[in-house]
This record gives sequence, C-alpha cells and structure tokens, in this order.
Amino acid sequence: MYAVITGASGGFGREFAVQLAKRGYDLCICARNTAKLQNLKKELEQTYSIHTDIFTADLSKEEDANALYEFTKQRKVDILINNAGLACGGNPSDSNLNEEMDMLCVNVRAVHYLTRKYLDDMITNNSGRILNVSSLSAWLPTPFLSAYAAGKAYVLHFSEGLNYELKKIKSSVRVSVVTPGFFNTGIADGKGNIQAQKRSLEKYTAQVVEKFLKGKEVINLGKDRQITVLQYFTHRSIAKHIMFRSLMKGIQ
Ligand SMILES: NC(=O)c1ccc[n+]([C@@H]2O[C@H](COP(=O)([O-])OP(=O)(O)OC[C@H]3O[C@@H](n4cnc5c(N)ncnc54)[C@H](OP(=O)(O)O)[C@@H]3O)[C@@H](O)[C@H]2O)c1
Repeated sequence: MYAVITGASGGFGREFAVQLAKRGYDLCICARNTAKLQNLKKELEQTYSIHTDIFTADLSKEEDANALYEFTKQRKVDILINNAGLACGGNPSDSNLNEEMDMLCVNVRAVHYLTRKYLDDMITNNSGRILNVSSLSAWLPTPFLSAYAAGKAYVLHFSEGLNYELKKIKSSVRVSVVTPGFFNTGIADGKGNIQAQKRSLEKYTAQVVEKFLKGKEVINLGKDRQITVLQYFTHRSIAKHIMFRSLMKGIQ
C-alpha cells in the first residue's frame, strides 16, 4: 500500500504520515524543505519499517505538481492526501497580491490538479482514496482571511461534488475532505492562543485518518462542528461576524 502526502514537512502533513506509517503504508512525502523530509523519512523507516520516498516540490508551480505525479507513477497510489497549504490575510489595505496568488496556487490549483491526475488512475483501477485538507473557515465567509477561506470553500465543495459523482458512476474510489479548526502549526506562525495549543494534533489526525479510511465524506470533528451549525440557524451577516470573532479568539 502506497500513500502520497503533500505538505509533510511539518504540522498536519507530518502527523498524517505518522498515522499512515503506523498502519503499514509506504509513503511519498512531499514539501519544499528537503532536510525536514529527510529527518521524517529516517524516523518513519526506523520506527515503522516502511519505505519512504521523498519528493521536494514547490506546489505553487504546476510543473512541480506534475513532476510529483510522474515520480509516484512507479507505484500504484492507494491514497493521496492533499494537505500542503499556506495562509495569508489581514487588513485589505496591507494585502500582498503576489502572496495571495501563491497561496491560491498551492491551496486551490495544486489540489485540483493533483486530485484530477491521481483520480484518473484510481478510476481506471476502481480503487483509491483522496483526502483533501480544507478548513473550518470553508463553511462561511471569514473576514480578514477572505481569500484563504474562499480557497478552502472551493476544496470543500469540489471534494463533496466529486465524491457524489464517484458514487453515481458506481466507482469504489472515494474523495473525503476534512475541515479542521485552529491548530498551532507552522501556518499559525506562533500566533495561536493557549486554547488552540491544548488541542492534540496527534489525537486529531488519528481520528481523521480513522474516519477517512472508513470512507467518511466530510470530516468535521469535536467543537469545530459548532461553527457549521451557524449556517443553518444564523443570518449570513451575523455568521460572518461570528467567524471573524472566532478567528480573533484563535490568534490572540
Ligand atoms: N493549522 C491550522 O489551524 C489549520 C486549520 C485548518 C486547515 N489547515 C490546513 O492544514 C494544512 C496543513 O497546514 P498546517 O497547519 O500543518 O501548517 P504548516 O505546519 O505550515 O504545514 C504546511 C505544509 O505545507 C507545505 N507547503 C507550504 N507551501 C508549499 C509549497 N509552495 N509547495 C509545497 N509544499 C508547501 C509546508 O512545507 P514546506 O514549507 O517545507 O514547503 C508544510 O509541510 C493546510 O492546507 C492548511 O490550510 C490548518
């Protein structure tokens, strides 16, 4: 069994790699930071006796995303986890368009591209699973993180739509999507508050992987579910305000 994980040099991706290694999967771990990938490879191979390939790529570039796909063609890919991502936001008058475009290339374009590339092979083999990492912010507009949240909404809707299509064509392939709330990983840049730090990333990713392997379509765990309820019971204008306040609570 072979799994490809993007953004595995830290945070969620690193934990997903550990969870799959524990279950005996050989891995291809991908990110820009080769040294971190090498350290993880060493740790995983020593602890879990699995084989780990490393692929260094900048997924904001389509040619790198394609190179990753071509590299992993040497094996039958059972699992793809589109996890790599970055976040930028803040005051609109301070926004940096280049940064935002880079973010959207990784968070949206690379996710779409890799999903499509691997999905074609999975459909042909009638087997395989894809997990796309979205965000709690995908459920509603999130002021001061607008482009990030909109990109993550794309990932959520795309994944849910695809999974429906796969069921309709009676394929065994499944696409899942996870919408995590705030965790104090690299993306948070040390800005997380105590409450966020108390959540165990290890426990969370273990639960996510369990649900993913069982084929759950939308994975939204624990207290994070409270936010999604907002969309049914709260007017959109109020919900936006609550999203903003909960974002501020997460980073202050
Ligand atoms: N932390 C949270 O609160 C939170 C909440 C909801 C969703 N998420 C999502 O979770 C995913 C993982 O983020 P994280 O929280 O684990 O943050 P993280 O610790 O910063 O990890 C991000 C990963 O993405 C990789 N990455 C970033 N830009 C890349 C690029 N251009 N090409 C290839 N790889 C790239 C990074 O590796 P290199 O720097 O080595 O390239 C790193 O491995 C992201 O999609 C994020 O949006 C996070």
